[in-house]
Amino acid sequence: MDVRSLFPALDRQVYGKPLIYFDNAATAQRPLPVLELQQRLCVEANGNIHRAIHFLSAEATDRYEAGREVVRRYLNAPARENVVFTSGTTASVNLVATCFCQRFLGSGDRILISEAEHHSNLVPWQLACQRCGASLEVLPVDERGELSPGELDRRLQAAAGRIKLVAVAHISNVLGIVNPVREIVETAHRHGVPVLIDGAQGIVHEPVDVQALDCDFYAFSGHKIYAPTGIGVLYGKTEYLDAMPPYMGGGEMIDTVTFEKTTYAPLPLKFEAGTQNYVAAACFVPALEVARAMAEDADLQTAQRAMRDYLLEELGKIDGLRIYGLPRDPERKIPLFSFSVEGAFPADLAQILDKAGIAVRSGHVCAEPLLHRYGQTSILRASLAPYNTLAECEAFVAALRRAINMLR
Ligand SMILES: Cc1ncc(COP(=O)(O)O)c(C=O)c1O
Repeated sequence: MDVRSLFPALDRQVYGKPLIYFDNAATAQRPLPVLELQQRLCVEANGNIHRAIHFLSAEATDRYEAGREVVRRYLNAPARENVVFTSGTTASVNLVATCFCQRFLGSGDRILISEAEHHSNLVPWQLACQRCGASLEVLPVDERGELSPGELDRRLQAAAGRIKLVAVAHISNVLGIVNPVREIVETAHRHGVPVLIDGAQGIVHEPVDVQALDCDFYAFSGHKIYAPTGIGVLYGKTEYLDAMPPYMGGGEMIDTVTFEKTTYAPLPLKFEAGTQNYVAAACFVPALEVARAMAEDADLQTAQRAMRDYLLEELGKIDGLRIYGLPRDPERKIPLFSFSVEGAFPADLAQILDKAGIAVRSGHVCAEPLLHRYGQTSILRASLAPYNTLAECEAFVAALRRAINMLR
């Protein structure tokens, strides 16, 4: 598969240098079929969905629902009603934090999250806890960045029914470790506690079957899996989505409205108030087709592992460089490397790399508590996609070594 020709952004030059895009965990580049469909729909099928009977509205609605069906199949969700469109992972988590907590949480209850959460799977729970007098409990990661289902079991046992929901990342955006989500779900369910998985990174690197995983909620964003920004997904089990009150009120989420009383639309529309980003939702069709083709291409997968192993080895050779997220089983590491370098500020390194055409992320990467656990306030992160190459990895390591020498 000639993957690079699918992604025109990779042909860019920055500061006169060929772009090396290693910030894929923040957002991925978009393939041609997505860009083409996005433009075509804006021109040919721009009508508001689920509203009018005219041609353009009907076509836009069909495209939107085709996007939902493709997501449903990608996740192996049982039905269309289990797939709610949102604007992204953040919106999906906020929806559950607000509506689940309003329905199921009371004073003295707890929500359990891990120490390795993105702020998007932390702050919404804090806000929800403040609203209903509940509190947050935090499951630690060990020095390597691994979560322990055994420790989760102990916490749930000790909480004696006060923990009402577990919310953890499938893959942390800092550590790049595939968490044992199946065991986490099993453990939580033994205690009768539902689980939300933040799949913002997980959906990109692992096949996800929500029925096999048996999670109660799974949240992700389109833009990290080759679709446009402004679209995301909340998968939820019917029993919870049915029991939860609506998130926002407005058009399309209603069944009947009078001044006295409103009844709500059936799932999933009950949670989709207002005009949705239907063009972006429709783009899940080509985006997930490309994602699946890349995931099923054995050569690309071998190349990905080779890049991961190369970076693990080469970064490990650099004096004073510390990688955060080194699982005991190296196969559980994705090609995402967060690290710090003694004697060099991450922002300075990122700036020097940028001038060499290399895009990496620096800063707290939206996971301040996890960075504090490692005594850091800022790190550097290189995150790869299947369209990256070993030659780019070599250029990155060489440029990083030069940048460190300049700063020391
Ligand atoms: C693990 C994780 N959760 C949540 C998010 C938030 O995603 P979004 O900003 O698309 O809502 C991100 C984004 O980087 C992430 O990596």
